[in-house]
Amino acid sequence: MASEKKSLSQVIRERRATPSFDGEPIPAHDIRKILEAGLAAPSGYNLQPWRFVVVQDPEQRKRLRAASYNQAKVEEASAVIVACGDRDGWRKDLDEVIRMGREGGMPESYAAQAEQSVPNYLSSFTDEQMKGWLNKHVMIAYTHMMLMAEALGYDTAPMEGFEQDKVCETLRLPMSYWVVALLAVGRLKGADKFNGGRFEIAHCVFGEEYGKLLK
Ligand SMILES: Cc1cc2nc3c(=O)[nH]c(=O)nc-3n(C[C@H](O)[C@H](O)[C@H](O)COP(=O)(O)O)c2cc1C
Repeated sequence: MASEKKSLSQVIRERRATPSFDGEPIPAHDIRKILEAGLAAPSGYNLQPWRFVVVQDPEQRKRLRAASYNQAKVEEASAVIVACGDRDGWRKDLDEVIRMGREGGMPESYAAQAEQSVPNYLSSFTDEQMKGWLNKHVMIAYTHMMLMAEALGYDTAPMEGFEQDKVCETLRLPMSYWVVALLAVGRLKGADKFNGGRFEIAHCVFGEEYGKLLK
């Protein structure tokens, strides 16, 4: 049974974008636990528009590397989770989302509102707006997975360096899919990456309004 080896604080402190992996396979139960952490993420109206393709086969990793600007990590990692959003997911899933919600105690007034609002809201999106909406959701699930992988004792590498069309073709993705990011998971080989450091809190955080220091 997969169990966490690190606290959340430790994961956040120690996580680095891994430069190189040893390629040793990851047990299926650990992969599952990582994916389940992603699927537990929150989403607008609980629509869960994320979809993931887990690439572990060495030949497929090689093809994916070719679609990812030849980044060696893609081929070296034990698994690469290709995180996608489905532009049409809500069309197919809304009924099930409402059914599950009712099962969990969703009030009828909420169900009625969601049945109206979701199609009104999402069908009005341009493709650019839809990509933005998908990016926001997929990256929450993605971050859940990255942190769970680290908690289980694995190393990870987030990646945006890939060619959309080539990844879609390599994985035979449906036209409605939008690839958001790749997450390589495995075990570090060699030295870890330097710690690039982070800005001071006052550089990024304001209190009450822009420009005011948080007290
Ligand atoms: C969304 C995202 C995309 C990234 N894409 C790449 C990538 O394609 N190739 C790469 O080598 N590193 C990539 N990185 C890793 C960053 O360079 C790294 O996270 C950053 O330098 C901070 O280092 P740290 O994660 O070790 O703290 C990406 C990180 C994020 C969050």
